[in-house]
Amino acid sequence: MLEAFTSRFWLALALGVLSCEQSDAPASGMQLSQEQLLDPRSCQSCHPSQYEEWALSNHARASSDPLFLAMNQRGQREAGIGDFCVNCHAPMAVRTGATSDGLNLDSLPASLQGVTCYYCHAVDAVEGTHNNPLRLATDGVMRGPLQDPLATPAHASGYSLLHDRDRLESASLCGACHDIVNEHGTHLERTFAEWQGSVFAQPLVGNSCGQCHMDQSQELKIAGAGPGAVPRRIHSHLFPAVDLPLEREPEPVLREAVQSFLDTSLQSALCVGGTAAADARIQLVLDNVAAGHSWPSGAAQDRRAWVELRAYAGGEVIYESGVVPAGSSVTELADPDLWLIRDCLFDEQGEETHMFWAAREVESNLLPAQLTFDTSDPRYYQSHVVQRYPRTGQLRAFPDRVTARVWLQPFGLDVFDDLVASGDLADTERYTVTELRERLQPYAVGEELEWTQAAATERLVEEGLPTSCASATNLSGSADKVPAVQHARCGPGVLP
Ligand code: HEC
Ligand code: HEC
Ligand code: HEC
Ligand code: HEC
Ligand code: HEC
Repeated sequence: MLEAFTSRFWLALALGVLSCEQSDAPASGMQLSQEQLLDPRSCQSCHPSQYEEWALSNHARASSDPLFLAMNQRGQREAGIGDFCVNCHAPMAVRTGATSDGLNLDSLPASLQGVTCYYCHAVDAVEGTHNNPLRLATDGVMRGPLQDPLATPAHASGYSLLHDRDRLESASLCGACHDIVNEHGTHLERTFAEWQGSVFAQPLVGNSCGQCHMDQSQELKIAGAGPGAVPRRIHSHLFPAVDLPLEREPEPVLREAVQSFLDTSLQSALCVGGTAAADARIQLVLDNVAAGHSWPSGAAQDRRAWVELRAYAGGEVIYESGVVPAGSSVTELADPDLWLIRDCLFDEQGEETHMFWAAREVESNLLPAQLTFDTSDPRYYQSHVVQRYPRTGQLRAFPDRVTARVWLQPFGLDVFDDLVASGDLADTERYTVTELRERLQPYAVGEELEWTQAAATERLVEEGLPTSCASATNLSGSADKVPAVQHARCGPGVLP
């Protein structure tokens, strides 16, 4: 009964929206109509910073992302996946009945594209932990973090725990979409589950998604324009993490926010042990200190994170791993020592697949999130992950200098090329495939780390070998650590 009412309500709303492509800016002092409430542009005049940041964010471009469009199109053809993808990438288009598969997004009004203001701010309940089980109220109230919102003629306002970044409950709103299980029950993207299992979900010491991803303004600003508005701390709607737009030159503000996020994500230590070529052993320790979930997280089946490491003796390179020629996919390296951090998906036949809908199993070696901040708790060290170089055989000489650097490519070139080969990713009026591929440059994550005897900050004996470690981030190489999980079924870096 209620369901029938709600769908009729949304249908009426959709027809209204579709019939007026260009929603008029609200006259101040007027109550926004339902159609206007759905359209982010009607919020701009009173909430300019939230609007401008949101407009640059991945939420705004979630349904115009060329990779999304290509993959959704392929999924429709190969597996008839219906509204599975578009239900998260343009949820208002699904809720209003304007699309059932996302293939007609081009013809829909801007107000239904992406993850909109209305979609987040109308939520009144979270009815699950994955695949977007958010319930929207139909009362027109814009729910938010303000306990004492100034009354505005534009819309009714109301405080909500789900919209208050200072409450851990708010993570369940974000987590609802940031966690994906496909129709085979495969848990493909697990950001919310990872957060729930980490110290960041613990009361008192934890952090909500918004506390890391929605910066609070330094200065007091107007949160919403209206007579008598008192300045407050407001929150960034840029939502930086990893992805930058591919279809246009990324705006410097988002690019810088992403880079600074990545630069502070990891701590590292580089250790060299032994006395001669025969027993020389290089170890790199990585610790995911700043992400409230695994590193990388979310679309980890598309991410490619790897370590480039070189050892020198007398100025000559005696060993290297993870050196990827520009423009080629890291997965093509014939490098048995490669430390490649990502999820691999496998289909029904047990073959590797890049496509969500075919995935029956996931093999993961992501760097885990912190489990505790208490250094006396043994679980403290479970996020200190160590990789040994070389993994088999020995070095040609004892190194006098070793360098290591972490790279992160937001979308693997192997997946990209797969979408081009199937014909789903092709040149359009907006972009060419060549342009998109060039924008997928890997990010350097933090500084290059260098070990020499002189640069070492720690000396110890490990497994009987004299060892010294260098770190630019104060990570102790001598602390307990766990060996890096090796991929067993997807290469490279798979040992026979
Ligand atoms: C005519 C001006 C005006 C327009 C247009 C407007 N708002 Fe507001 N909004 C306000 C004012 C004023 C406040 C209260 C600000 C304060 O208390 O500091 C507010 C508060 C809010 C809040 C916080 C509510 C709370 O209790 O925390 C949200 C969320 C919000 N608006 C969303 C929107 C969205 C989404 C749109 C567009 C569909 C929109 N607003 C359009 C003036 C406006
Ligand atoms: C992905 C969900 C999401 C989207 C999309 C979104 N918001 Fe928000 N917004 C939030 C959350 C969460 C907060 C609360 C931050 C906090 O705890 O103070 C917030 C806070 C606000 C506030 C209160 C003032 C402030 O900055 O803290 C306003 C006003 C607001 N949003 C307006 C908008 C408008 C306008 C848009 C679209 C242009 C928009 N929001 C898009 C999640 C969203
Ligand atoms: C309706 C589903 C939905 C909700 C709710 C939602 N998101 Fe998102 N979010 C997405 C989608 C879809 C993308 C990716 C868009 C793209 O790149 O195609 C995204 C992207 C992001 C990104 C950028 C990821 C990257 O790799 O750069 C961040 C950060 C983010 N969301 C944080 C949040 C936070 C914090 C909240 C809660 C306040 C939230 N999201 C709520 C669907 C959602
Ligand atoms: C303690 C701070 C912190 C918390 C809490 C946190 N994040 Fe993040 N998040 C980060 C950092 C730093 C990165 C960038 C490094 C990375 O890729 O993991 C990131 C990355 C991401 C990404 C991109 C991941 C990728 O590699 O594709 C998404 C999406 C995201 N966060 C969403 C969320 C959501 C949703 C929550 C809450 C359930 C959340 N984050 C909680 C700090 C945090
Ligand atoms: C439960 C909600 C949800 C569903 C279902 C979903 N997505 Fe997403 N998608 C997200 C979120 C959240 C992100 C951001 C994750 C991140 O940055 O790590 C995202 C990111 C992406 C990205 C950009 C990140 C990248 O580089 O891979 C693409 C492309 C994408 N999704 C395609 C799809 C396709 C195609 C489908 C359907 C087969 C789909 N999504 C289904 C929520 C969803």
